[in-house]
Amino acid sequence: MAYCHWFSSNFRRSRTLKDVITKHRRPRGNEPSRFIVDATSNITLPNAFPVLDLACGYGRNSVFLSKRGHEVVAADYCREMLMDGWGTSSSFIHSVHLDACLPLPFANATFSAVVVVHFYAIGLFRNIRDLVVPGGYIFYESISARGGNANELPAPGVAQEELLPGYTFLKLRERLVEGSKSCATLRLIARRDF
Ligand SMILES: C[S@@+](CC[C@H](N)C(=O)[O-])C[C@H]1O[C@@H](n2cnc3c(N)ncnc32)[C@H](O)[C@@H]1O
Repeated sequence: MAYCHWFSSNFRRSRTLKDVITKHRRPRGNEPSRFIVDATSNITLPNAFPVLDLACGYGRNSVFLSKRGHEVVAADYCREMLMDGWGTSSSFIHSVHLDACLPLPFANATFSAVVVVHFYAIGLFRNIRDLVVPGGYIFYESISARGGNANELPAPGVAQEELLPGYTFLKLRERLVEGSKSCATLRLIARRDF
């Protein structure tokens, strides 16, 4: 059974979904991730396939991508976040309630890109790798290591381990958290090989 780092370290200790929502309060601004803005502006995604924004939260990146003309599947574990109203801002956004720690309910080669920002679960890259069409992309940005949340970060090397062979890394910036050998901040752009 898939084991979810985030779920285990944060959710199970919590009693209710309210705790999850409190932890991930609605961001003050709705600006999309700068990394996603920059990464996607230099890349043409394969046409005719939607983008998956996994663990989309309050949808700042989904809204941005939909404004860029992409059909977006915005998926999150937290129903309240999905039902907060932002998803109806565009007919290009389709909300899906799911647990990203489990095998995902999508056929292989469904998405032109999978975007994951500020979320990690053990096995994440293995779980999403087949969802991308050949020539499509994975964009990943971890949380920063500030605020004592380093245990929510991936282990160093995990993206390479789970995506190679089969993907080419166009960008891979991994930084070990000071004083830790097992947690690293990570940003990556990877393209699925043909
Ligand atoms: C820090 S927020 C990031 C939200 C969004 N990606 C952003 O950049 O604004 C982390 C998100 O992960 C979601 N999440 C946590 N565990 C999850 C799981 N097992 N499956 C799906 N989503 C999950 C939370 O509900 C929350 O919306």
